[in-house]
Amino acid sequence: MRTPGVDHLRGVVLTAPDLAASVRFYEQAWGLLCLEERTDHAVFRALGPEYQALRLEAAAKPRLARIDLAVRSVRDLDDLHVSLTAKQVCIVTPPSRLREAGGGYGMEVLDHEGRLVRISADLAEHAPIHDDSRPIRISHIVLNSPDLEACRFFYSDAFGFVLSDKSADQMVFLRCGTTHYDIAFNQAETISLNHISYELHYYGGVYKAVERVTEAGVPVSWGIGCHGVNGSMFSYFIDPSGFVIEYSCQMRPFDPVAHVPTTWERTSINMDAWGTARPPAQDFLDAMAGLPQRLND
Ligand SMILES: [Fe+2]
Repeated sequence: MRTPGVDHLRGVVLTAPDLAASVRFYEQAWGLLCLEERTDHAVFRALGPEYQALRLEAAAKPRLARIDLAVRSVRDLDDLHVSLTAKQVCIVTPPSRLREAGGGYGMEVLDHEGRLVRISADLAEHAPIHDDSRPIRISHIVLNSPDLEACRFFYSDAFGFVLSDKSADQMVFLRCGTTHYDIAFNQAETISLNHISYELHYYGGVYKAVERVTEAGVPVSWGIGCHGVNGSMFSYFIDPSGFVIEYSCQMRPFDPVAHVPTTWERTSINMDAWGTARPPAQDFLDAMAGLPQRLND
């Protein structure tokens, strides 16, 4: 039987202790569009076709509640279900029609470290909207883990992710499509969320977006800079729940056929090629380390 791989990263579900403040931030400052707001949750899209980039759920503690991945078809989802079952992956919800807005057909599983992952197909799509200063989609997520090799193995074996590169012995970068990476894992003491990155169209849009966020009272935590290894412009912030979020833009074109995985050195030019970002503050590094919003608190 064929084992279909994941096609792309759809989005994430986060819990938020102050849901109203988070909704205000993501809609008015961050630039997402709110599709639905209730007393216990809110749903946002970016400007691309993906139905949902972010869902916020009210809860006492902030945590990464779910990762949403896409497969290309209902048949791929059913085949993946058979494959994951044979590999004894924990199936939380077997394939069924999804009842949330956007519809679709999906299942939920636990990864090897207990993260809830929804894989889905056949969701509704939006007509794209063009605004350079607002996110098009979630570009990538970075997850903290004490065991990078176990993460690389699980996400490759279960979902078909491919190793793109490593950053010394600190990070592994995995792709499921044609961009350099969709998910990365960062060596850490805890299983937690490191950061979520939202893609913008071009450099000028990042400056407009950064101005909108800072005018809303949220300072830049690290940036504006440019990652030397992939040419991606970056600017990091901390959201009202304490999650690290990033605007990224214009990652270098990537050839998945010709690419050979390499291990980068963690030099200053690889981290911040322009030298404009200045060293990040300790509260930002703590937030990236997943403190205090540990996944399993
Ligand atoms: Fe990033």
